[in-house]
Amino acid sequence: MSTTEIQSPTGAPYAAILGIGSYRPERLVPNSEVVEAIDSSDEWIQQRSGIKTRRWAGPEESVQMMSVEASRRALAHAGLDARQIDAVVVATVSHMLQTPAIATAIAHELGTDQAAAFDISAACAGFCHGVAMANDMVRGGSAGHVLVIGVERLTDILDLYDRGTAFIFADGAGAAVVGPSETPGIGPVVWGSDGEQFDLIRQREDWRDVIASGEPVMPHLMMQGNSVFRWASFAMAKIAQQALDRAGITLDDLDVFVPHQANMRIIDAMARSMKLPARVKIARDVADMGNTSAASVPLALDRMIQEGDAKSGDTALLVAFGAGLAYAAQVVTVP
Ligand code: COA
Repeated sequence: MSTTEIQSPTGAPYAAILGIGSYRPERLVPNSEVVEAIDSSDEWIQQRSGIKTRRWAGPEESVQMMSVEASRRALAHAGLDARQIDAVVVATVSHMLQTPAIATAIAHELGTDQAAAFDISAACAGFCHGVAMANDMVRGGSAGHVLVIGVERLTDILDLYDRGTAFIFADGAGAAVVGPSETPGIGPVVWGSDGEQFDLIRQREDWRDVIASGEPVMPHLMMQGNSVFRWASFAMAKIAQQALDRAGITLDDLDVFVPHQANMRIIDAMARSMKLPARVKIARDVADMGNTSAASVPLALDRMIQEGDAKSGDTALLVAFGAGLAYAAQVVTVP
């Protein structure tokens, strides 16, 4: 056995989110624009999902462009320069190249000094996975500041004729800068997966089967909405409570609740089952943004900060869940 002693990395005692930024595509798409193709109605969509409008990206609003805009705003909010970013973690399922990671192009366009850059795939729970990793990276010493981005251009993989998904999914980007802090700003993550339910939300076909079929059409996103709805409404309230417990706080200490913006009824069901006090502000960005998967939590939190519903120093609970089924939750201090 070697006796050579290898130095272990050492990081900051604590980490926190230092800045948040987001990008919302220009084009607003009301329910009236999606109903015809799916034989639905504005009333049905609002009643079942709480969605009134969503934003769909135009040709210029690429995954990279939206990410860079959101990141610049997050850096400005944190008062940092891109050269201070040591790692860029991008959570997305809609970057259309298998390789390389879009994070590398984003890190370059932002002007980081060759930051470590990689993508992660945890669907709608991706941003909360990224925040958990960034927390550990800053405290572990592998990065001083980490940029975590949640971004989706789901319209590229959306079947506009599918009644179960066409009115739900949308586009956008959110970013957070995670860095060192004097006090704990990110609580322990509670995360996991239930791969037994792998097929509930997924890309419909394997790319190889698409090519073999001789009819190369985009393999769209599909979802067994009803099963996801039942799972999320109950299981995720328990995960949320565990995140509070692991952070050592109770509902009395909580100011802001930012669940993944999947569906207003799921948000309400979670709040009810958690017995969330009425004074806790709840993110309801889904009403006019639809479900933007990995981007939904940072988009919703940024909006609450902009509109004064979340103030610097507030205690917020983030909970996200989606395809996999993968989930993650943590308590954070609002930057
Ligand atoms: N417009 C109008 N009617 C529709 C419809 C649509 N887009 N989609 C389904 N229906 C009809 C069905 O045909 C069915 O009619 P029937 O009762 O006459 O047979 C009825 O509505 C109920 O269908 P169901 O699929 O059970 O709907 P639902 O109540 O589960 O609502 C969702 C569908 C998608 C809104 C809901 O399941 C949901 O939001 N699930 C969670 C999805 C989610 O948030 N996923 C994100 C996780 S990342």
